[in-house]
Amino acid sequence: MIYRKALLYEAPFFCTFAAMKKLYIETYGCQMNFADSEVVAAILKDQYTLTDDVHDADLILINTCSIRDKAEQRIHKRLRELEALKKKHRALQVGLLGCMAERMKEELFETEPILNFIAGPDAYRKLPELIAQSAAGETQFNVLLSEEETYDNIMPVRYDLNGVSAFVSIMRGCNNFCTYCVVPYTRGRERSRSPQTILHEVEQLLNDGYKEVTLLGQNVNSYQWEDKTFAKLMAAVAEMSPDLRVRFATSHPKDISDELLETIARYDNICKYIHLPVQSGSNEVLKRMNRVYTREYYLERVRKIKDLMPDCAISTDIIAGFCGETEEDHQQTLSIMREVGYEYAYMFKYSERSGTMSAKRFKDDIPDEVKTRRLEEIIALQGELSLISNKRDIGKTFRVLIEGVSKRSVDQLYGRNSQNKVIIFPKGDHKIGEYIEVTVNDCTAATLFA
Ligand code: 5AD
Ligand code: SF4
Repeated sequence: MIYRKALLYEAPFFCTFAAMKKLYIETYGCQMNFADSEVVAAILKDQYTLTDDVHDADLILINTCSIRDKAEQRIHKRLRELEALKKKHRALQVGLLGCMAERMKEELFETEPILNFIAGPDAYRKLPELIAQSAAGETQFNVLLSEEETYDNIMPVRYDLNGVSAFVSIMRGCNNFCTYCVVPYTRGRERSRSPQTILHEVEQLLNDGYKEVTLLGQNVNSYQWEDKTFAKLMAAVAEMSPDLRVRFATSHPKDISDELLETIARYDNICKYIHLPVQSGSNEVLKRMNRVYTREYYLERVRKIKDLMPDCAISTDIIAGFCGETEEDHQQTLSIMREVGYEYAYMFKYSERSGTMSAKRFKDDIPDEVKTRRLEEIIALQGELSLISNKRDIGKTFRVLIEGVSKRSVDQLYGRNSQNKVIIFPKGDHKIGEYIEVTVNDCTAATLFA
């Protein structure tokens, strides 16, 4: 999963009449959560208009993440801050959505009296009822998980106002039960969305002028609908328009099949970027994590990627300090990072989640100072690897999809190349949503300049 900062948003385009109530949504965590918030906005669009001013809201929804303890602590802190608003505005309703709702269920009402209702990730169609019933006084909750819900007939309300790049959720849930991970418990079993509804959504996005879609799922490459594999679905999306870029996230290494790699290689408009979480470079640790692959298998898949697509960027997720991780295991993680030469990595300290297999079976025995030191070494190494990769791009020309105005200066724009690298370049006469060819002339570890 790729993480983004909490985002506040406004979508004035369905503000139809003044009497409508105002909804403020704040989203934490992975891209799936951001996509879900767009589904929630669609479910409530006949009753609420969106606002980006929390002080103005009649309803506040916090879409939450449970992946690590830190993510949950941040949300508890945010709820504390919102208490003052509730004191001022008696009719204000506050609802908590997403993984924390699923993990803690009604227990949350005790620690967080500000909440009027909570809804798990499969309960969003019930939001209008939960809101109406809790407005009458009693707190409400619905945390039922479903084996079918994919919100397939709901056209999400896109709040990404640059109108260039959209998430399209194609499957939900996870069956992998990596021992450290809470996701299979909070998001339930894997289920795929019908290809017809996915293609219809992409067609609408194309009609609305979007230029890039990211096909999303907890394990996007486990997608299966009758005989349609993820590779076939992605090919069908790529064939809709040569001007549409196709990305995907997140892949499990076990499902990164030859068929999928050959499909990515075959289509120019499928981006040459694969997020392939390795988690650890040590076979012992991988086994305890229940990742179901070995270091050797993973490296063979990386070789296959590079053979088929020498220009393909690879990023990863890494956990430092998993239960029983020795110094030697940690060195193996550093060495696999060097061997792959990742373009980018999301790096975390292991955080024990109650109810998971690792919490039940293993001891969280790596002292925090050791986890911190190992994480720092991993981050420092990734900094070097990103810089090496970016320096190799100096002098190369890339096709970039322009996404916005650079934060550094209004005279500069930014976009990403196929490899998902951010490139900043002078504005000239160019506009957001256009493709442009640029030649890289400088870089940092995080950004290319052209
Ligand atoms: N502790 C630390 N990191 C975790 N992740 C998942 N669960 C945990 C945990 N308990 C990381 C993994 C995963 C990413 C989304 O979050 O690296 O790929
Ligand atoms: Fe969690 Fe593993 Fe499923 Fe990813 S594949 S969501 S890390 S259980």
